[in-house]
Amino acid sequence: MKTQICIIGGGPSGLMLSQLLDRKGIETIVLEKHSREYVLGRIRAGVLEHGFAELMREAGCGARMDTEGEIHDGFEISDNGVLRRVDLKRHSGGSSVVVYGQTELTRDLYDARAAAGGHVIHNVEDVVLHDLNTEGKPWVTYRDGDEIVRIDCDYVIGADGFHGVSRKSIPADVLTEYEKLYPFGWLGVLSRTKPVNPELIYAKSDRGFALCSLRSQVLSRYYIQVPLSDKVEDWSDEAFWDELKARLPDEVAARLETGPSIEKSIAPLRSFVAEPMRWGSLFLAGDAAHIVPPTGARGLNSAASDIYYLYHAMMDHYLKGDDTGLEQYSQKALARVWKAQRFSWWMTSLLHRFPETPGYDQKLQETELAYLFSSDAALASLAENYVGLPF
Ligand code: APR
Ligand code: PHB
Repeated sequence: MKTQICIIGGGPSGLMLSQLLDRKGIETIVLEKHSREYVLGRIRAGVLEHGFAELMREAGCGARMDTEGEIHDGFEISDNGVLRRVDLKRHSGGSSVVVYGQTELTRDLYDARAAAGGHVIHNVEDVVLHDLNTEGKPWVTYRDGDEIVRIDCDYVIGADGFHGVSRKSIPADVLTEYEKLYPFGWLGVLSRTKPVNPELIYAKSDRGFALCSLRSQVLSRYYIQVPLSDKVEDWSDEAFWDELKARLPDEVAARLETGPSIEKSIAPLRSFVAEPMRWGSLFLAGDAAHIVPPTGARGLNSAASDIYYLYHAMMDHYLKGDDTGLEQYSQKALARVWKAQRFSWWMTSLLHRFPETPGYDQKLQETELAYLFSSDAALASLAENYVGLPF
């Protein structure tokens, strides 16, 4: 097979880029390791920054998001039982976020690719990238049963997530990886219950962090901070609800509707960045190049700018013969990626309980939160990062 751009990974990053480029007449093939059902079975986060929502609209995929998603102009922070609201709209100069599950967003992108007759090939095995940094053009192979299929292309996009093959195709002496592991994880529960609050609540408590989020008015998503040594099996639904309530303000806990969990999992908190994001004709995007802890809701959103820069760089290359965007991609993408890293680290440090933290550091954490709510400048800094910095 032959195409202009071969995209490895059919998660939100790969699908979004494929959909955007297709609308400009630029050909792509998406290679996805798993089935569509498997990809859509993964429970992921649900807050979209303004810029990502705009990209969905530009990709012609915004209709369901705009009717079923909820615009959130703010969220609440609970500090050991005291609730305070962060007015995102006011402090960001009019911006907001869209609460719309990433699973639904991925479904919309799959539907749009199918409607446009796009090539998304599922269940590909043994993807190998070839000639990424030679004089000739790159090519990609995968195995389909006993057959090895070859795709010739101009560029390869590595959008195959943290465990994908693309980043690993860059030689170790070229790549620098930066990583920070937090000494705790998040235990998440999805339940068919009415959300406890119209807006998200990020709760700091002496028992550890908790988050009340939602997917719709009948589907709630809750999280509690747990030690890394905990296993999902250790947590009955009842124990989860009891612990969540203990970390929330009394009036919120009193109105919390509980029910059976329909999904329950523990995710470790990790920060990761790989540099550079381009090597020869390979461009990394999304989780393949960087991961953030979920506290600042930046996961998908830090992929958004990668997609935006790549989309524009590819348009400039194919439609105007201008390669500046491709040449500057890694540098530009990383500058914004690191800002999302900084913000995620800051939100995580602000709200979690760090085991064995010296008294001095605890005092600083308390002061940081007190300062936040005493200063419009500090709130503006939080708000502009949460709704998403400009691309
Ligand atoms: N070959 C082909 N596909 C692969 C390979 C491979 N070797 N390895 C992984 N994949 C696929 C995965 O099955 C997955 O569907 O690549 C896709 C990567 O998707 P994501 O992990 O969702 O990453 P990305 O699209 O960058 O999405 C950004 O934002 O909210 C965060 O982590 C969350 O998924 C989210 C991310
Ligand atoms: C979620 O709804 O899953 C969610 C929301 C906000 C976050 C993290 C996760 O910061």
